[in-house]
Amino acid sequence: MNRSPDVAHRVDPVPVEELEQIAVDVAGETAALALAVRERVVGRDRLDTKSSATDVVTEGDRACEALVRERLAATRPGDLVLGEEEGTSGTPGPGQVRWVVDPIDGTVNYTHGLPWFSVSLGAEVDGRIVAGAVVEPVSGRVWRAALGHGARRDGETLRTSTLDELALAVIGTGLGYDPGRRARQAAVLARIAGRIGDVRRTGCASLDLCAVAAGWLDGFYEHGLHAWDHAAGGLIAAEAGAVVRLPGADPDGLGAEATLVAAPALAGPLTELLVAEGAGGIA
Ligand code: IPD
Repeated sequence: MNRSPDVAHRVDPVPVEELEQIAVDVAGETAALALAVRERVVGRDRLDTKSSATDVVTEGDRACEALVRERLAATRPGDLVLGEEEGTSGTPGPGQVRWVVDPIDGTVNYTHGLPWFSVSLGAEVDGRIVAGAVVEPVSGRVWRAALGHGARRDGETLRTSTLDELALAVIGTGLGYDPGRRARQAAVLARIAGRIGDVRRTGCASLDLCAVAAGWLDGFYEHGLHAWDHAAGGLIAAEAGAVVRLPGADPDGLGAEATLVAAPALAGPLTELLVAEGAGGIA
């Protein structure tokens, strides 16, 4: 029997679920390495600093990124990688996959013995993240998503919170490494703190975004995140139903550097509150 040409030739050009599984596998193996190296890193081996005296890079960050690059090169030799520690391996062509990698997100937590850090891998095609995974080495939790296929944590489907009252919302945020920006961020936070339910600053943006996906946080915002901080977590949150506003254009006055991820009913009110309290001037 002849199949309809539409069906016969409809091939998904981007195997998003396959990319999701690769992200899970590589992040999982890298998480084990991060944990093994941590004993040598906590409290002492701060190898180097980057943008400021508190922006550290450890033996763990470097070893983990090297492992990610090695595994991806073996599994998908034609792909590119953009990593926090080593930068980009080239400019992606149309349809080419580029992996956006934070080998250890939450490095300050990592160096201080706090358990809240992750390995984060997002697969980007034509400027859009289509699959990703965030793995927590200490708890072993695996957060994952593929574009159009939903988001899961250890097999459980994720949905954002349904809260619609900003005054009750628990909102996560982050503070940058640059002391000047951090002071501006703290000033805005001080002004909004009395208008929301409560505030959390965990020190690991990828997991903050996963927390919004799970409804553990009702929303999250931060100015100055890098692509590797929000690549996988942003997709996981979006696939769980969150409104995701990434750095780039500034359609709402929050500033070109703003990331805002929130339960659908809270994204508008949170954006308005932040703009009214001067968040657009944080950058
Ligand atoms: C940092 C964390 C932190 C956020 C910073 C990020 P890193 O990433 O995600 O929560 O507030 O802006 O730079 O440096 O630990 O990979």
